[in-house]
Amino acid sequence: MDFDLTSEQQQIRKLAKDFADREIAPGARERDRAEKFPAEVLKKMAPLGLLGGPVPEQYGGMGVDYVSHALITEEIGRVDSSVRTTLSVQISLVELTLLKFGTEEQKRRYLPRLCKGDLIGCFGLTEPEVGSDATKIRASARRDGDAWVLRGRKTWISNGSVSNLALVFAQTDPAKEHKGIAAFLLERDEQPYGSQPIHGKLGLRSSDSSELILDDVRVPDANRLGPVGDGFKIAMAALDSGRYSVAAGAVGVAQACIDASVTYATQRRSFGKPLAGHQLVQELIADMVVETEAARLLVWRAGDLKNKGRPNTRETSIAKLYASEIAQRAADNAIQIHGGYGFSDEFPVERYWRDARVNRLYEGTTQIQKLIIGRFATGIDAIA
Ligand code: CAA
Repeated sequence: MDFDLTSEQQQIRKLAKDFADREIAPGARERDRAEKFPAEVLKKMAPLGLLGGPVPEQYGGMGVDYVSHALITEEIGRVDSSVRTTLSVQISLVELTLLKFGTEEQKRRYLPRLCKGDLIGCFGLTEPEVGSDATKIRASARRDGDAWVLRGRKTWISNGSVSNLALVFAQTDPAKEHKGIAAFLLERDEQPYGSQPIHGKLGLRSSDSSELILDDVRVPDANRLGPVGDGFKIAMAALDSGRYSVAAGAVGVAQACIDASVTYATQRRSFGKPLAGHQLVQELIADMVVETEAARLLVWRAGDLKNKGRPNTRETSIAKLYASEIAQRAADNAIQIHGGYGFSDEFPVERYWRDARVNRLYEGTTQIQKLIIGRFATGIDAIA
């Protein structure tokens, strides 16, 4: 087992870190306050290859390995979870799913434009009445000649309103239950779908979360991704990729909490010495350090399996669950260390806390991850 990063991985991490500190961090608070989507940031990321890290060069990406992908995601997540979420959906849920299940024509048509940022992707699975029980989606796809007619509503779709390419899951035959689900690629200019942004979120305020409105959208059969009936498996495989990215982003949040806390606790004084000179403060920081390093190693282990092309659903769920939970604890500790200042956006830790909360919800709640891990451990299905 080698825990050292290769020189290429170190360079990629440095590229992402420098970019994050220079181009993302300075505007994060204002974007959060204004609920402003980071379009300008994305434009600057594209030429550096950061919108298509793990996508092979032949399709417009950088062709980096999965540990490098996690390093990039961690560095972006360290400064702004809204940007990180936008990126996770673009790369992990849309690009990598297209790469795995798309025809050669679909890959050539969409991947280079996604990697350049000319297309912004979204992933339409969740519905107003269907979240964790994703096998039960109700959006329908009715065959009509050489096309499909899609009808239904999707909700909590990251990038939904700003997207011009939607990967949408719909039911073709309810009698077949999850084996009737199919996946479709909707290019907004040609298959116009509606959207409605969701406002008033606790966190991720500068990312876009929207409803998608499918009012009899006609989609050519050529835009179907994978076979009819494989849609659910495609969604689950996509989530194996998306959850990895959420885990890496959560490690970034936890690291940001350590960095902010160490800076504050070594500068601010109380009872005649630096805060960090108090044992109970050091305990808060030590807990954050231990949990963050453990989470990072879980992410790298899942990444190593992905690099080797081996099954990783279990390891990805473990990483996603743990990193999401410890990022929240780290943010809570960071606020505690900052005292009253941690309660206002003069310091970034309150944003880290608000932004961290959704990691325990989206791309499969903590409870869903536990059921997946428990099923692997016991061989007994406690899900349905
Ligand atoms: N890869 C490939 N196939 C998989 C798979 C995986 N990781 N996991 C399951 N499958 C296959 C199974 O092999 C099975 O195939 P067969 O029918 O041929 O046997 C089929 O899918 C059904 O699987 P399960 O029996 O595991 O289904 P289940 O109902 O027991 O459990 C679940 C499914 C794990 C609960 C799943 O519904 C789930 O993950 N729910 C959470 C949904 C979720 O994460 N939503 C996030 C929305 S996206 C989002 O948040 C995006 C955003 O914009 C931020």
